[in-house]
Amino acid sequence: MINRASNLLWLLLVFIASIILLNSCEEDITIVEQDIEAFISALPSHVEYPANKPYSLEKEELGRLLYWDPVLSGTKDVACVSCHHPDLGYADGIDFSQGVGGTGLGPNRTAGVKTRRNAPTVLNTAFNGINNNGVYSPETAPMFWDNRAESLEGQAVLPMLSKEEMRGADIAESVIIDTIIQRLNAIPEYVSKFEEAFGDRQINQERILAAIATFERGIVANNSPFDKYMRGDVTAMTDFEIQGMNAFIQVGCADCHGGPMFSDYELHTIGVSDNISPPDRGATNQFDFRTPTLRNLNLTAPYMHNGIHATLQDVMEFYEEIADGDGDELNANLNFNQLDEEMRDLQLDDDVIDEIIAFLNTLNDDNFDKTIPNSVPSGLTVGGNID
Ligand code: HEC
Ligand code: HEC
Repeated sequence: MINRASNLLWLLLVFIASIILLNSCEEDITIVEQDIEAFISALPSHVEYPANKPYSLEKEELGRLLYWDPVLSGTKDVACVSCHHPDLGYADGIDFSQGVGGTGLGPNRTAGVKTRRNAPTVLNTAFNGINNNGVYSPETAPMFWDNRAESLEGQAVLPMLSKEEMRGADIAESVIIDTIIQRLNAIPEYVSKFEEAFGDRQINQERILAAIATFERGIVANNSPFDKYMRGDVTAMTDFEIQGMNAFIQVGCADCHGGPMFSDYELHTIGVSDNISPPDRGATNQFDFRTPTLRNLNLTAPYMHNGIHATLQDVMEFYEEIADGDGDELNANLNFNQLDEEMRDLQLDDDVIDEIIAFLNTLNDDNFDKTIPNSVPSGLTVGGNID
């Protein structure tokens, strides 16, 4: 008797418990589905240009030529495209970019002066700084792994000034821009192209930067399966990918990788290990780097500010070890408590890694402008010494 009664009681308890569990599971799923748009969203279909730097085809095409022309480097052997090439997703596919004196492209590049960081993609930088409501300001868009530059115009002058990237050792920083302007003035095709783009023949720093930035604002990939899904095409993502999207939000990735670019554009200490000496201490000496976009990762390996992780699997293992509190992957200069709170709060288990990677792959869109000019007005090798 006693046995039967307790058996019945157990059955009843199990029944009640499963109802509670079922309900809470359902709730979990619906909460996440409702919340997706609070964390992540599609990119806008159009790009905004600064109010005083409106789009024009002439400016864009002039910018494309400047971007591909090694005449902008002191040594005449490096162009922007040497490190941000369309065949490599407008990045360069190596851990640390190589500038002046280098030959070859991407993994085949040798003998160039090494920079201390991995080249991020130029793709979609038109949207840098965008928040989850689609609001951004092209005039103040944050640039670089440490957000030290503002706007595409403000960024574009810095590689030309940089001794390692484009200037070389023979021309002083104080005269490199004047040298470039003199060179461009001596090339009739550039003079007429500046006139077509800006209304008169004057070539100055502001116009060079405006043309390059206008070209860069046209390098966008905003029609990934994820974008299509968020715009209403429910067939654009598989159930497994949608599961991965939910997991991405649930485990805490979207707390930093939020918004249409999957970046909050804030600096965070996440503890990526060093592979360079002296170590790269980030923006404020705390090994803090800006959250990178997670779009087009299929084209932009290796990952992180120092290209230390070759695959997405490696990146996920890094996050999993941090989430487990295992110190193996942690930067040797840091301890767990120095990591950002969002990082310490990650709840990442092995069993969701595959679906999160599947989700990340829905952020790829290979349909972007990959035009390679047949020649550049300087007559130098298109793209610099990249063959
Ligand atoms: C030698 C390789 C090299 C060359 C040449 C080069 N870059 Fe870069 N680029 C980099 C590296 C490395 C970074 C990251 C540096 C950092 O964050 O400190 C970068 C960052 C950028 C960014 C910032 C992207 C973001 O999301 O923050 C833009 C935009 C950019 N480069 C455009 C250009 C343009 C335009 C030119 C030509 C005027 C150029 N680059 C020339 C290597 C290069
Ligand atoms: C605390 C904020 C934060 C959280 C949480 C976070 N990330 Fe990151 N993520 C970053 C920062 C910052 C970097 C760059 C760090 C560096 O280069 O040292 C990064 C880099 C990456 C990269 C490399 C991208 C590239 O182009 O180099 C990937 C992929 C990535 N994160 C995915 C994820 C996933 C998936 C999750 C959840 C499991 C996650 N992140 C959680 C801030 C965060």
